[in-house]
Amino acid sequence: MAKKIAKKAPAKAKGKAKAVAKSSKVKAKAKPAKKPALKVVAKAAPKAPKISTKGWGKDGKALDGVRILDFTHVQSGPTCTQLLAWFGADVIKIERPGQGDITRGQLMDVPNADSLYFTMLNHNKRSITLDSKSKQGMNVLERLVKACDVLVENFAPGALDRMGLTWERIHSWNPRMIVASVKGFGPGPYEDCKVYENVAQCAGGSASTTGFHDGIPLVTGAQIGDSGTGLHLALGIVCALMQRNRTGRGQRVLCAMQDGVLNLCRVKLRDQQRLKAGPLKEYTQFGQGIPFGDAVPRAGNDSGGGQPGVILKCKGWETDPNAYIYFITQAPVWEKICDLIGEPGWKTHPDYAKPPARLPRLTEIFGRIEQWTMTKSKFEVMNECNALDIPVGPILSMKEIAEEPSLRETGTVVEVDHPTRGKYLSVGNPIKLSDSITEVKRSPLLGEHTDEILSKVLKFTPREIAEIKASGATGEAPKAQAAE
Ligand code: COA
Repeated sequence: MAKKIAKKAPAKAKGKAKAVAKSSKVKAKAKPAKKPALKVVAKAAPKAPKISTKGWGKDGKALDGVRILDFTHVQSGPTCTQLLAWFGADVIKIERPGQGDITRGQLMDVPNADSLYFTMLNHNKRSITLDSKSKQGMNVLERLVKACDVLVENFAPGALDRMGLTWERIHSWNPRMIVASVKGFGPGPYEDCKVYENVAQCAGGSASTTGFHDGIPLVTGAQIGDSGTGLHLALGIVCALMQRNRTGRGQRVLCAMQDGVLNLCRVKLRDQQRLKAGPLKEYTQFGQGIPFGDAVPRAGNDSGGGQPGVILKCKGWETDPNAYIYFITQAPVWEKICDLIGEPGWKTHPDYAKPPARLPRLTEIFGRIEQWTMTKSKFEVMNECNALDIPVGPILSMKEIAEEPSLRETGTVVEVDHPTRGKYLSVGNPIKLSDSITEVKRSPLLGEHTDEILSKVLKFTPREIAEIKASGATGEAPKAQAAE
């Protein structure tokens, strides 16, 4: 391979290689490894598809042709497969007959309709009901494994194996199959534990670093354990699909929720190590003279980066729980901040002019800025500050977000119609691809696509389908039994 490359390498590159070979024997031995990279690029070009002449967004979707066996439930797994479905994958959700994904019936707000918990995490999927523990159910599963590219699951540890779907068995049925899993913990002392969102937030370092330094640990409303890990898993799957293009074989993808949360708490592990060099000066507690311990403390609303920031009251805070703004005293715009709040003297005063001098005085400084923000609504502060390039963020309520027209226009907030619950709002695809436009379609009813999947995807004959159904594997028990 390396020889071939050397032959076809451009004249200029060959000359360079010779010169290197002359100058050093050791280098000459190591060098050939450099050339294949050039060759790979050159060789791949003729195989690449022709550049599409269709309009942007008119040439299918990013994951067209990818079929997913979706064995997920609750939130983490469904987040992942919903994203893949939005990018065009055909996602077939396997659900237990009669009950389906447990979230269909959790936090119900409309009688006899799938809950928002379920509908908002299962758009663009098809649903088949299947008892995976029955003989016929396993027969159908085998066919599904052979027809799909990726199996995604987030059962409790060992559940897939107990069903009989070990990696070895799946791989023997379909060596191209990618098996992607969310688990609470990776290999180690806790690997057998069942895990929900808040357990992951606590075990991943989020809870110990969230809240105020004198209060108890807090979990955050953002579902960084569930949805965050689902996002990580989706990336792993797409990478495994890319690698399969080259190797032809599938692989296992594992995302542990503890790892996913820790990845999102990376800056806190950064601060843990910085503690060795002294107190964390950008933390409010430093300015308050409160000593630091040996672990990263909870930092309240302090900014996570090097630019100090906090949440400040705005006009109306006495009655409106969201009349607040996040205010960052970014160093490059400090002078503009001083003018805006009516403290021009701070621009040159040695206690305030430079960032290190300000660090022990942050409480006082933000107190003065707050006197100014309290005279304005959060949107007035936003407008005045943005005009001067001062970074601020209004605390938006979910009501305000739901009603925000620009989020509707981008499809980040979408209205979806559902046959049993009617219209509802959902969060659309937050990842925008210019040539793979997301259309958000309602979630499937339980088992809505059982027949079409058995016949059209898995190509069972009408007789075979009748046998499968008669066995009760899809939930339709034979009439004689049902009457009992
Ligand atoms: N047919 C027959 N049986 C089915 C089935 C089907 N279609 N689908 C699931 N089951 C069975 C499983 O095989 C399992 O049976 P077993 O325990 O006898 O082996 C059983 O249903 C329950 O699965 P399990 O995953 O243990 O559900 P649970 O409700 O007890 O636990 C979690 C829920 C979320 C705690 C657990 O799944 C988990 O820890 N998952 C990994 C981490 C995770 O994703 N957590 C976040 C969820 S948002």
